[in-house]
Amino acid sequence: MNIPRTLQPEWLDELPPGDPRAMRSRRDLQRINALMLNCTLVARELRRIFPGKPPRAIAEIGAGDGTFMLRVAEKLPSQWQVEDVVLLDQQSLVRPETHGKFGSVGWKTQTVAADVFAWLAQPATPIFDTIVANLFLHHFDAARLAELLTLVAQRTRVLIACEPRRSGRALLGSHLLGVIGCNDVSRHDAVVSVHAGFRNQELSGLWPAGSAWTLREHAHGLFSHCFVAARVGGNDNAVRECRA
Ligand SMILES: C[S@@+](CC[C@H](N)C(=O)[O-])C[C@H]1O[C@@H](n2cnc3c(N)ncnc32)[C@H](O)[C@@H]1O
Repeated sequence: MNIPRTLQPEWLDELPPGDPRAMRSRRDLQRINALMLNCTLVARELRRIFPGKPPRAIAEIGAGDGTFMLRVAEKLPSQWQVEDVVLLDQQSLVRPETHGKFGSVGWKTQTVAADVFAWLAQPATPIFDTIVANLFLHHFDAARLAELLTLVAQRTRVLIACEPRRSGRALLGSHLLGVIGCNDVSRHDAVVSVHAGFRNQELSGLWPAGSAWTLREHAHGLFSHCFVAARVGGNDNAVRECRA
């Protein structure tokens, strides 16, 4: 099924953080992430890329309420103590108890409420060992995405992205979310997200050309599309993995 890539605004991005429908939709998102196996995928990629020493600094862009990254942290071995975890989102959504749960698995978190483009372009933004994007890159059209990936490439050694797959099966799944009790916002945004999702090597094609990176892009689970970029020489383990 060849679905053309189209973008429409997502309701969750436009509702105020305290709106009850938005709050409910963020809880739905936790179940949708579980169904998509996205936390499992990101944890597995991190373990493969950093088999010995865990990364010191990780950022999630478009981190929402931080619970996605928390699930990832909980899936990693207890010796993974990440010193510097930045949860970046345009809205300030991470609750104190979520920071507390990160603390109990040894991850030190801070939140940044900013637009991703402005934040990545700031000279003060550090270089991370890994940037994670989950259900985020599909928000942008190809031109903005190329701009975003160029900024990301300047700020990280590894990018792990997990996005909706633009496939008939994912579209069917998105139309069935009412069955598991997802609300109108989640049902709307899921369908819109699949239409804005990715397939084939679309993200690799937008990665800044000429840079020394190894790229992997593939389907994951029933509904997801995974993209991993690792800087050659920036992380030897990452490079070995991505060439395998
Ligand atoms: C679908 S949610 C995913 C949240 C989280 N990654 C998860 O899986 O639960 C997308 C998030 O991207 C954020 N977002 C959208 N555009 C943004 C931008 N330009 N800069 C920063 N965050 C943005 C929204 O506020 C929202 O929390």
